Amino acid sequence: MIKQLAWVGLALLSANAAADSPATFMAQYAKEAGVAVSALSPARGEAFFRAEHSGRDGKQSCATCHSANPKQTGKTRVGKPIEPLAPSANPERFTDAAKVEKWFRRNCKDVLQRECTPQEKGDFVAWLNQIK
Ligand code: HEC
Repeated sequence: MIKQLAWVGLALLSANAAADSPATFMAQYAKEAGVAVSALSPARGEAFFRAEHSGRDGKQSCATCHSANPKQTGKTRVGKPIEPLAPSANPERFTDAAKVEKWFRRNCKDVLQRECTPQEKGDFVAWLNQIK
């Protein structure tokens, strides 16, 4: 009985862990921005990723660390590799809400010196999610 309960618990846990996906983030950010998911713009997301800002460490963009090609491995300032951001190249991306929110907050503050808006985050995920 206890063993069975443990299995049910495990099954529930893994169902919960699998609940986040690029599509659920897009739906959430669109809702927060007060727009339809169809109003998220991959083109705007790409422009956002490449735009240079005067950040904490001088001119930088998201591409500074994540590389110009989100299917490729990027590099931190100290040269540590960063796995690709595009879900097609790295299926673990946008599957963990705590991780996604932590890094959006941190990276947006670094690059933009403010948090990203829900629209920016939604456009960004919409762009990455349609990269084949
Ligand atoms: C200073 C280097 C750096 C810059 C600039 C940077 N990032 Fe990151 N980013 C990282 C690191 C390091 C991680 C965490 C390591 C990993 O996930 O592989 C990360 C992870 C992420 C993640 C987590 C995704 C997931 O599901 O795992 C998101 C989202 C993200 N970055 C978005 C952005 C956006 C948007 C910008 C531009 C506004 C940006 N990053 C700029 C270094 C950077």
